[in-house]
Amino acid sequence: MNAIEVKGVWRIFKTREGIVEALKDVNLEIRKGELFGLLGPNGAGKTTLIRILTTLLLPTRGKAYVLGYDTSTEELKIRPLINMVSGGEYSGYGLLTVKENLWMFSQFYGIPGKIAKKRIYEFAEKLRFKDILNKKVRNLSTGQRQKMNIARGFLTDPKVIFLDEPTLGLDVEVAREIRKFVKSWIMERDNRTVVLTTHYMHEAEQLCDRVAIINEGRIIAVDTVENLKKRISSEFSLVIKVSPKVDISWISSIDGVLKYLCREEENGMRLRIIMDKEESIGDLVDGFIKRGGKINYLNKEEPTLEDVFLKLTGRGLE
Ligand SMILES: Nc1ncnc2c1ncn2[C@@H]1O[C@H](COP(=O)(O)OP(=O)(O)OP(=O)(O)O)[C@@H](O)[C@H]1O
Ligand SMILES: [Mg+2]
Repeated sequence: MNAIEVKGVWRIFKTREGIVEALKDVNLEIRKGELFGLLGPNGAGKTTLIRILTTLLLPTRGKAYVLGYDTSTEELKIRPLINMVSGGEYSGYGLLTVKENLWMFSQFYGIPGKIAKKRIYEFAEKLRFKDILNKKVRNLSTGQRQKMNIARGFLTDPKVIFLDEPTLGLDVEVAREIRKFVKSWIMERDNRTVVLTTHYMHEAEQLCDRVAIINEGRIIAVDTVENLKKRISSEFSLVIKVSPKVDISWISSIDGVLKYLCREEENGMRLRIIMDKEESIGDLVDGFIKRGGKINYLNKEEPTLEDVFLKLTGRGLE
């Protein structure tokens, strides 16, 4: 049995502005024991899918199963087996300390006292927040607060845990500690499943066994990061910084250019061009110079997950 099965799920929202198709015919299987990533840009439908899987939202059409149970009709069977943590979430009571909050949650969840205590200290150790256990939650920094939220999510020892952008807006160090914790948590246990959403490429790359790329409500690829990269193995990307900003409409007409992305920067622009013909690099450089652009930086790079995304969707992630 798979940890998760999604079969032909649609989710449509009716708003005053019109109809939003947040999920369009999503099909997905996630195996037990996988650390699975849902990767997609803002508004792709990641949170909507997580809300359906955590039984907080019904699909408009289709079926979703968690550990064999139907999310639409068997939510009471599913809920004790799962947990969820979102990035930037404000859970807990500000006037209580971190330890008191975690204890309170453990009692809500019905975890025996001794076990709860042991887990709180274990997670505080592993996530490096022992020093704040007696600090009031209202005085925590964003990173400290998120460490507590993560601990809260894992406290119930869930069979499946959903992490919706768990490192959103955190500094590099805290994000790394959280990723390390998630990875070791799943490695040290049998048959636990983690489903995580992110729009950070490197997070998916470092952490996930397999990744589903989701864009505009559709899953457009599911594979290991390695295999996703192989799909574009004959290709490379060229990163170029040009100043000032010049016309770029001609780039697609250069032989060997497959897709490109342009970000405006102060006094100029940064382009990421996916191509499969080294001989065309000269034509590209000439093209910029002819239009009055000065090339300040040029680097040829191996394909990244971001390139896979760009190739599949024609757009960037962030
Ligand atoms: N309750 C709702 N009512 C109306 N529209 C909604 C609702 N929830 C989500 N949507 C719309 O559905 C689409 C998908 O949203 P969702 O939050 O699932 O995206 P996401 O991938 O999680 O994005 P982000 O990276 O910004 O968190 C968006 O267009 C959003 O505006
Ligand atoms: Mg979201």
